[in-house]
Amino acid sequence: MTEAQQPLFDRVDGVAFFERVVDAFYEGVMTDPVLAPLYEVEDLDGARHRLTLFLVQYWGGPSTYNDERGHPRLRMRHSPYRISTLERDRWLVHMNAAVDAEQHAGRLEAADHAAMRAYFVTAADHMINSGGLAMRGDGTSSHLEP
Ligand code: HEM
Repeated sequence: MTEAQQPLFDRVDGVAFFERVVDAFYEGVMTDPVLAPLYEVEDLDGARHRLTLFLVQYWGGPSTYNDERGHPRLRMRHSPYRISTLERDRWLVHMNAAVDAEQHAGRLEAADHAAMRAYFVTAADHMINSGGLAMRGDGTSSHLEP
């Protein structure tokens, strides 16, 4: 296998890298007036665990997420939460800060840092399920209104 084919997971310090990213992310989320109310405070460890396993799997590590949770179906799993561009933007602020910190600490290569940031933009856009759609004359939107 050439270096270009190696997954990102193999270039960072494994699961520990994703645990640090997710810890930093949730630290930000829990101080965020827009996002914090969406999360169950009693199950933050569970939320950290699920996001960590998902990211580990996505970036080429063990597929424990699938073993525990099945196919990610992330858009469906986010349907209970109202996610507009506001929530997306706040989510990205905290995730970007988390991955930026890893790069500044010398634990994430520039190209991998750029790949993660680009992925999160696309993934977060995909989770939007409310607002931002053209309104019809009768005030309803074309689809996806909660
Ligand atoms: C766009 C704004 C987003 C908001 C407001 C949001 C919010 C949430 C909330 C409230 C949960 C429930 C926490 C839990 O108990 O697990 C959750 C779960 C989760 N989110 Fe997000 N999320 C967003 C974007 C994303 C993105 C972009 C990803 C992936 C790159 C992601 C991955 C996950 C995963 C893997 C879970 C756990 C799913 C499960 O197995 O149940 N989220 N999210």
